[in-house]
Amino acid sequence: MMQHFLTTESLSKDQLTTILDAAESFYNIDGGHVKKVPLLRGKTIVNLFFEASTRTRTTFELAAKRLSADVLNININASATVKGESLLDTLRNIEAMNVDMFVIRHQDSGAAEFISKHVAPGISVINAGDGRHAHPTQAMLDVFTIRRIKDNFENLKVAIVGDLLHSRVARSQIHALRTLGTQDIRVIAPNTLLPACVETLGVQAFQNMEEGLDNVDIIIMLRLQKERMQGALLPSEHEYFNLFGLTPERLALAAKDATVMHPGPINRGVEISSEVADGIQSVILQQVSNGIAVRMAIMSILAGSE
Ligand code: CP
Repeated sequence: MMQHFLTTESLSKDQLTTILDAAESFYNIDGGHVKKVPLLRGKTIVNLFFEASTRTRTTFELAAKRLSADVLNININASATVKGESLLDTLRNIEAMNVDMFVIRHQDSGAAEFISKHVAPGISVINAGDGRHAHPTQAMLDVFTIRRIKDNFENLKVAIVGDLLHSRVARSQIHALRTLGTQDIRVIAPNTLLPACVETLGVQAFQNMEEGLDNVDIIIMLRLQKERMQGALLPSEHEYFNLFGLTPERLALAAKDATVMHPGPINRGVEISSEVADGIQSVILQQVSNGIAVRMAIMSILAGSE
């Protein structure tokens, strides 16, 4: 039993596999033929997003509704936070409404864990992205997407390309993939966008797309996280695309059946060309769809219903 879902780093292979298997069981509850299941009927889920989101917030809302929960979306910009109410006071007041689960996105690393230590017993906290630290539900939907396409994790060659330095997604992906058995994980970026000692995460670093993409099975492109950059780390976006952008020519260096992924939002012509983003090897929109089943799985496991 898990009470909170804060990182992929702390999870065992069995726990990751349990979530993936549960997500598989929710895959066909898509709002179409099978609309809803009653697993979270009577529960209230609160989406508390202090930072912008399109995919994560909406797929959490859809996931909760497909589990028959009630959903409360707090608009922070129209909340008492703008009048100076502290994070903990906001939390206490929402808790007083008898809620069961908080889904938290925050610009500060560690915010979700901090909140998890202050909620009342019985309330669960899900980290929907904290600063540059972790985005564990994104990593789970990414490994779920990979598992639906590839035979196993052990023999995969995975390249993660772009702004590793500021990416909470990459950290969570690397932990999940390593735990699931992937040995060959490469990170490709200019030196200024690679964390110091990145190899300690169990990856091999490249500063050249032509070398790093050689024969890989999965390419995960990352956005330049300009909102988290302090000072100029790159000469220009144009120069970045010339050196690290994923074009059809560079995609051809990977395995013939390589899959292209991106957590979104994508910046066309900055880290990825439109031809690749919209091409037949891209599963970028499937990742978004898969996020619903994966988030249903995580919420139902935390609620003790799966
Ligand atoms: N991938 C992701 O977290 O997207 P959003 O910021 O739109 O939620």
